[in-house]
Amino acid sequence: MCGIVAYIGNKDAYPVLIKGLKRLEYRGYDSAGVAIMNNADIKTYKKKGKVVNLQEFAEKHDLSGTIGIGHTRWATHGEPNDQNAHPHISGDGDLALVHNGIIENYDVLKEGLKARGHVFSSETDTEVLVHLIEDIKRHEKVDLEEAVRLALSSVVGAYAIVVLSKEEPNRIVAARKSSPLVVGIADNNEFYLASDATPIVEYTKNVVYLEDEEIAIIDRESGLKIIDIRNREQTPYVQQLELELEALEKGGYEHFMLKEIYEQPRSIYDCFRGRLNVEEGWVGLGGIKDYERKLVNANRIIMVACGTSWHAAQVGEYLIEDLARIPVEVEYASEFRYRNPIINENDVVIAISQSGETADTLAAIGLAKSKGATILGICNVVGSSISRVTDAGSYTHAGPEIGVASTKAFTAQVTVLTLMALSIARKKGTLGESRLRALLGDLEAIPAKVEKVLEKSNIVEEVAAVYKNAANALYLGRGNCFPVALEGALKLKEISYIHAEGYPAAEMKHGPIALIDEEMPVIVLATKGTSYEKVVSNIQEVKARKGKIIAIITEGDVQVKELADHYIEIPDTDENLVPLLATIPLQLFSYYVAVMRGCNVDQPRNLAKSVTVE
Ligand code: F6R
Repeated sequence: MCGIVAYIGNKDAYPVLIKGLKRLEYRGYDSAGVAIMNNADIKTYKKKGKVVNLQEFAEKHDLSGTIGIGHTRWATHGEPNDQNAHPHISGDGDLALVHNGIIENYDVLKEGLKARGHVFSSETDTEVLVHLIEDIKRHEKVDLEEAVRLALSSVVGAYAIVVLSKEEPNRIVAARKSSPLVVGIADNNEFYLASDATPIVEYTKNVVYLEDEEIAIIDRESGLKIIDIRNREQTPYVQQLELELEALEKGGYEHFMLKEIYEQPRSIYDCFRGRLNVEEGWVGLGGIKDYERKLVNANRIIMVACGTSWHAAQVGEYLIEDLARIPVEVEYASEFRYRNPIINENDVVIAISQSGETADTLAAIGLAKSKGATILGICNVVGSSISRVTDAGSYTHAGPEIGVASTKAFTAQVTVLTLMALSIARKKGTLGESRLRALLGDLEAIPAKVEKVLEKSNIVEEVAAVYKNAANALYLGRGNCFPVALEGALKLKEISYIHAEGYPAAEMKHGPIALIDEEMPVIVLATKGTSYEKVVSNIQEVKARKGKIIAIITEGDVQVKELADHYIEIPDTDENLVPLLATIPLQLFSYYVAVMRGCNVDQPRNLAKSVTVE
């Protein structure tokens, strides 16, 4: 949510900034801007809308300069327009600042600053921050580093910031709290800063992830210095990025989302690689090895997550309860954080997040921690905030997910949860040896089966063409396919803007059935398994009201094939693993519908990939 990029070195900053902003655009695309420092002068260009709008505008002007900052915005305070776009400039024109996060006490600060004569030109909380730094710099007569430190000491909220000052034309000052910031260190005293590593990886693999309340001072001559908010010098911990540049490109696909859907055979494989052995009947997650006992003996597991990750948690509930026989509760992180939940030391909290930066999930972790719970994480982004604040965790290894709608991260999260359920079950002895081996074998076969589902994409595309103008859609599923229905509905609404609802199939008759008429597509998860016959009855109920049935069925099933208006077959697998396959046609369906409706699939309106505000 909002992307920051910055550069200081010996080459022109602008190409680095604009390329970096394009890589970060998934974090927000309401407006974009850059500020470039050249000979103690700062030039700022900003534009409403996508980064290309900024590029078109900026490239008509002087862009020379070897220090610069850039920002792509997801609006919080103030509507998306040129005025509210970052960078923001101090009243005296000395400072330029970009910010990701929310300054919660901006109102109080603004009143004080106004009383001291500051005049504001935007509605943003960020502009308050740049005025505050200016105010301190002037009145306390301190340098930029100290002014930033003092200003941040009086700020309540979340921030990642980068600031330039004309008076110190050879340095950049940056800081973070609850919003991510990474420093890339290249040869020849060149430094890159960004909200995540994607704009940095093509220049260097040496990075430092700033910790909360750390301030980085990067000087052209003396290099990188890190202090904390109490002015104590910190030793930078330099890590090696594992990210590869190719993972950030579309690789011949029209959209990142499609590429990521097609990557799933690989990403699911990467997720379980080295974590299971069918012959030996072994399964384990190295990252949480030290907490296996705790999990095995847990009275209860509480999962906290948002959005698609919350749907993965719901699938996890079925898996862990069925296979490992531990009660699981799944909570929206945003609700959990404001309750007074009852947690004791025998509970384990599992936080699930693709980005590892979701503000509500981070806050839920904080709350659970304060109550003494053990916290495990399931994250995709290596080095992300959630992966660093949890006691231990497992990465999903799905690779960078750029499309704003989550696809491969979901199946990877479900894969980790499957591995977790199986490894607890193995330790607890809740599964027989042969059932465990059979399940491990079935999991190992999933990537090839996903491949087979992807081969059906032309059928899904044909169905999408029939329903692309639908106003509403209903998704029905039972058992572990209920969260799949929720996820299918979320995918459709977020990228095609068609209103869609996911329901447990049997709940339909308690209300939603009133919506069904000949215009209503009803997507039913009707694969073979415990609830199959019941779902068939639900299909009959829809048909009796002339609803249109699009059924996801198990290969070879004849009964539903005959009942449905359209069907998409998926290979047979253990019932516990069906979500990994059944999700794929729903992802493809929403993708094709959105493309046919001319929607921006990778950057749907109003959304951002990494939700770092509550
Ligand atoms: C939907 C989607 C969102 C995220 C949610 C949580 O396609 O991507 O619903 O799942 O914002 O994000 P993470 O998983 O990064 O915590």
